[in-house]
Amino acid sequence: MGAPVLPVDLPKAYRLLNHGPTVLVSASHDGTSNVMAAAWACVLDFDPPKVTVVLDKATRTRALVEGSGRFALQVPTVAQADLTRAVGGVSLADDPDKLTKAGVELFHMPGHAVPLVAGCSAWLACRLVPEPHNQQRYDLFIGEVEAAWADARVFKDGHWMFEKADPSLRRLHHVAGGHFCAIGAPVNPTAD
Ligand SMILES: Cc1cc2nc3c(=O)[nH]c(=O)nc-3n(C[C@H](O)[C@H](O)[C@H](O)COP(=O)(O)O)c2cc1C
Repeated sequence: MGAPVLPVDLPKAYRLLNHGPTVLVSASHDGTSNVMAAAWACVLDFDPPKVTVVLDKATRTRALVEGSGRFALQVPTVAQADLTRAVGGVSLADDPDKLTKAGVELFHMPGHAVPLVAGCSAWLACRLVPEPHNQQRYDLFIGEVEAAWADARVFKDGHWMFEKADPSLRRLHHVAGGHFCAIGAPVNPTAD
């Protein structure tokens, strides 16, 4: 007997794929720095490495990305679930103290102007690859990754290694409505 298969309402279909790791998008322009949450971020290419992220027109972060031509994607941890909800629930346009209230601490890596969020497990510094049609029509932004760093407790030699690390370092996977799940059990630990 096959598995029971049910139709999924189209407005809920995105939830079948939604739970890749949620990221924080950071950017800075003209003296303003900001961070927002984004579930709709994706890998686009290997070499040079490229990523995509959907930035709604209403977000303040988007204007900073467009203004500076730079952004960073970073991977928040389970310990940062409240921070992630906070930066994803309030706009800098409505609350200038948004980052302080959310407990965001920013830092910089030498040679990179884009601000990074402390406490994440990985960071990707990106140069915006301008695609005005995609940005305007689909809110879709492409970034070429210029540098990347990761917390060696959970990412080493090209592999995520959650099984032996503190569970609070796992990634957040957003389903919907502020509900996250965490994953990390390897299925084939010997694969490259
Ligand atoms: C878990 C989570 C995921 C989100 N994913 C996205 C996303 O992929 N794209 C987007 O434009 N907004 C997303 N948002 C909403 C933005 O983070 C939210 O609008 C934020 O307040 C924008 O902040 P800003 O205006 O200060 O830039 C998400 C929010 C949460 C909580």
